Amino acid sequence: MVPRLESFFKPKTIGVVGASRNTTKIGHAALKNLLISDYECKIYPINPKEKEILGVKCYKKVTQIPGEIDLVLVSVPAKIVPQIIRDCKQKKVKNVIIISSGFSEVGNHELEEELKAILEKSNMRVLGPNVMGYKNASDGLDASFVYGRARQGNLSLISQSGALGIGMIHLANHEFVGISKIIGVGNKIDIDDDDLIDYFAQDSDTKVVGLYIEAVKDGRKFMNSIKRCKKPVLVVKAGKSIAGARATASHTGSMAGSDKIYEAAIKQAGGIRCRDIVELFDMARALAGQPPAQGNRIGIITNGGGLGILLTDACEANGLVVPKLSFKTYKKIDKILPDIVKPNNPVDLTGDAGFYRYEASTRALLEDPNIDGIIVASVHGGYARPVEFTGAILKMIRGRKLHEEYKKPILATWIGGKEFEDLVWDLKSAGVPIYPSSWRLARSMMALYLEGERLKREKEAG
Ligand code: COA
Repeated sequence: MVPRLESFFKPKTIGVVGASRNTTKIGHAALKNLLISDYECKIYPINPKEKEILGVKCYKKVTQIPGEIDLVLVSVPAKIVPQIIRDCKQKKVKNVIIISSGFSEVGNHELEEELKAILEKSNMRVLGPNVMGYKNASDGLDASFVYGRARQGNLSLISQSGALGIGMIHLANHEFVGISKIIGVGNKIDIDDDDLIDYFAQDSDTKVVGLYIEAVKDGRKFMNSIKRCKKPVLVVKAGKSIAGARATASHTGSMAGSDKIYEAAIKQAGGIRCRDIVELFDMARALAGQPPAQGNRIGIITNGGGLGILLTDACEANGLVVPKLSFKTYKKIDKILPDIVKPNNPVDLTGDAGFYRYEASTRALLEDPNIDGIIVASVHGGYARPVEFTGAILKMIRGRKLHEEYKKPILATWIGGKEFEDLVWDLKSAGVPIYPSSWRLARSMMALYLEGERLKREKEAG
C-alpha cells in the first residue's frame, strides 16, 4: 500500500505559484531550491507575466499545466491565495504548500476559514499557510524557500515555528546531526502533526521523530499518533510558563494549554519531552546511533574523580542508578588499574589513563549483566592527552562497534579546551554521541532508557 503523503514528500511533478525572476523574492528562492535539488521531477514555474524563469518554461495558471500535478508551492500575497487554491482544486492537484503569511496568525481568521471552505469535499492535502515548506534530505528534494542543505541522516523534524525550524537546519548541520526530513506546519489548516508522525512512523529513512510544538489542535489524535509510532518521538513543547503561554498566543495565535496535561499525555503516549532544541538534538544523536538501554543501571568510567561524581548526580537526578560493581567486574577492572586506586562505580582510571585502560574497563562493564549503559568520560588532565581518549572512543564505537556487539549504549563526555574540542568534532562527524556536559549526557542516557522501556511495553502488548 502506498503510504499517505507519499506524493507529498516524493512528488514527480511540482508547480511554483508566484515563481519570480526577482532574486529577492521568496517565490524565486523556492523555485531555485527545487531546480538545484538532487532529485528527479518535472518543475513548472507559474507567473502570469513571464514566459520563462531560470531557464524553465513558465505557465500563467495551474490549470494550464499539462498532466497531473503532485505538489504546488504557493508564494503570492494572502489575498490571492484562495483563488490559487480553487485553481488547484479544479486541476485536482494532490498536495499544496501555502508559504504565504497573513492568515489566522495575524488575526485574519476569515481568510483562513475561506481556505478551509474551499478544501471541503476535496482530497487535496494542504500544508500551512504560513510555512517554510520542507527539506527532504533523504531523497535530495528541497521544497522550501530556505537557503542551505540539510545534512542527510535519520532524524525527521516537525516545527510549528518556521524561523525556529530554519535555525534547526543550520544547528543540525553544525552539530553533525543528520536529518531525513524537516518540515514547518504553520497554521495547520489540514496537514497536522499527527499526519506527519504517522508518515514518519512508516518512513524507512526516519529512525527518530522530533517535534517543536506550541499547541496541538486535536490532543487525542496527536497522542494516538505518538502511541502508534514504533520509533522514538521527542517533543519540545513551548509555552510552559505563564509568560511563555502569553508569547505563544501572540506568535501562532494558539493556546499553549495546561503544561501538566501535556507533560502527562506525552509521557503516557510513550513520547519523550525535551527541555529545548539542543536537548532534542542530544537525545536524537543518542537514539539514532546507540541501542536503547535495557534498564537504568549505568556504569561510569572516568579519568577524573570529580567528573565521575557530577555524572553520578546527573544520572540519579534523571531516573538512572549508578550501582556498585559486581565482584566479578571488580576483579577484572582491578587488574588494569594502577595500585593507587581500587575499582568503584564511577570507575576512576586516574589521570594518566590511555587507550588500554579505557577499552578494557569499558569491555568489563559491557560484559557485566548488572550494567545497562556505559558512560566514558575524560578531563583534559596533566598527563592524559585527549587524543588517547577520543581515539579509544572512536575505535570502540565506530571501529569495533562494541555497543552493537553487547547491545548496550555507550555515551561519552569531556571537560577541556580547544585541543579537546577539535578532536571532539571527529567523533561528532562519525556520529558518536559525545556531550560537553554531564547533565546533557545524563538526559540523553535517560532517553535511551525510556526508549528501552517503551520497546519492552510494545513487546509485551504484542
Ligand atoms: N499566479 C502566479 N503568480 C502571481 C499571481 C498569480 N495569480 N499574481 C501575482 N503573481 C506573481 C507576482 O507578479 C510576483 O512575481 P514578479 O516578481 O514576477 O512580479 C510573484 O507572484 C510574487 O508576488 P508578489 O506580489 O511580488 O509577492 P511577494 O513575493 O513580495 O510576497 C509572499 C509574497 C507570499 C512571500 C508574502 O506575501 C508573504 O507571505 N511573506 C511571508 C512568507 C513567510 O514568511 N512565510 C512563513 C515562513 S515560516
